[in-house]
Amino acid sequence: MRLADDEKAMRDGAEGPAVAAAMDLLIRYGEALGAERLCDTRNVAGTMTQPSPIKATLVREGGWNKAFATINLDSDEEFDIPHMRVPTCQLQHGFSDDALGVAPYPASMVELQADAESFYGAHGVNILATCTPYQVGNLPVRGEHCAWMESSAVVYANSVLGARTNCEGGASTGAASLTGKIPCWGNHLSENRYGTHLIESAVPVEGSLDWGMFGYFVGDIVQENRPVLVGDLRQPDLTDLKHFGAATASSGGVELYHIPGITPEAPTPEAAFGGRPAPEKIVYGEPERRAVHETLNNQGESEDVDFILLGCPHASLDQVARVARALDGRRLNPGTELWIMLPRALRVVAERNGYTESIRRAGGRVLTDSCPAMSRSAPEGTRVFATDSAKQAHYLPAILGIEAWFGTLEDCVDAAVTGKWRGELQ
Ligand code: F3S
Repeated sequence: MRLADDEKAMRDGAEGPAVAAAMDLLIRYGEALGAERLCDTRNVAGTMTQPSPIKATLVREGGWNKAFATINLDSDEEFDIPHMRVPTCQLQHGFSDDALGVAPYPASMVELQADAESFYGAHGVNILATCTPYQVGNLPVRGEHCAWMESSAVVYANSVLGARTNCEGGASTGAASLTGKIPCWGNHLSENRYGTHLIESAVPVEGSLDWGMFGYFVGDIVQENRPVLVGDLRQPDLTDLKHFGAATASSGGVELYHIPGITPEAPTPEAAFGGRPAPEKIVYGEPERRAVHETLNNQGESEDVDFILLGCPHASLDQVARVARALDGRRLNPGTELWIMLPRALRVVAERNGYTESIRRAGGRVLTDSCPAMSRSAPEGTRVFATDSAKQAHYLPAILGIEAWFGTLEDCVDAAVTGKWRGELQ
């Protein structure tokens, strides 16, 4: 890999041993990937504060410097971690103390995480505590090179914002935060950003349920490739594309898609394919739509629902407001729990608007920082859950061994109030 002078200096220790270890990691990583060079980044987002038993052991042995060196720099050496060199934020992690007594989640992990927040925060990591940094102020601009983790955030950054990031890991984001560098390969290069598949929807795609189902279909077809989406696509909003991207990255591994006329790198289908001939189109019609709905509901048997989960990816204010409205004047069924997950920063606004109070008054819980999949935790005794998220319907049954129903936000609120699943595809 070709190194610039500042990169060589960092590798050779000019900025201290932690930065040298970070540069060493990036060089090893870049060479393994076949990258020819590193690119500059000023936007790093990683799940740095996620608690785990391994992290607890490392902290006991050598404090947070050791935990950072081992997990975020893949180094056995001992050194002090300097302040982050470039703007860095932390993404979702485990539950915080607002979930104590609500989620069966160990208090020791909450404490470990609070400690982690102090350490990482003092070193310049902004504690956003959400899988949707783009909802709370981290909005990279078109063409900006980033080093982000979290598949649903990566696909949003690349596709909707036109930023450039691969799906990074804990070590590469740690190294990027101390150097401002990341291997320049994959989605960082223009030639790797053109469409590979053409998918046409023959049915209207409108609202987050349908955008989620369409995304689930698309991800399954293209896997890790780059779909170009055309057809009867109604104007999406942030929530629709959040659900769409998360679903493509669950049934497949999509990191970048194009919707001509909507996403920034695709003014036209021709531009989305970089002037190359478009491949034969794959059609998404009513039979495919019904098949996706069936797949996402094939882990549901009992109509008696114990748990409703909303806010995957973390909810927007609009979604929180819709839940508050749908619950207005109603009470949850005794024995059914409803959790809505949202970014910590948005909860402040939701509180000022009275949304959280309406949800709490009905018996629901408004939680931040994490989710049942990330923290492997749902209300005690949950056997059947329902969600409006294709991503959670895909993952949670396998993670927690529970049944799942998938439907609209309103179907989910109805189940929370009646205790029964009655959602049907319209
Ligand atoms: Fe976010 Fe958890 Fe869903 S991290 S994207 S709410 S699985």
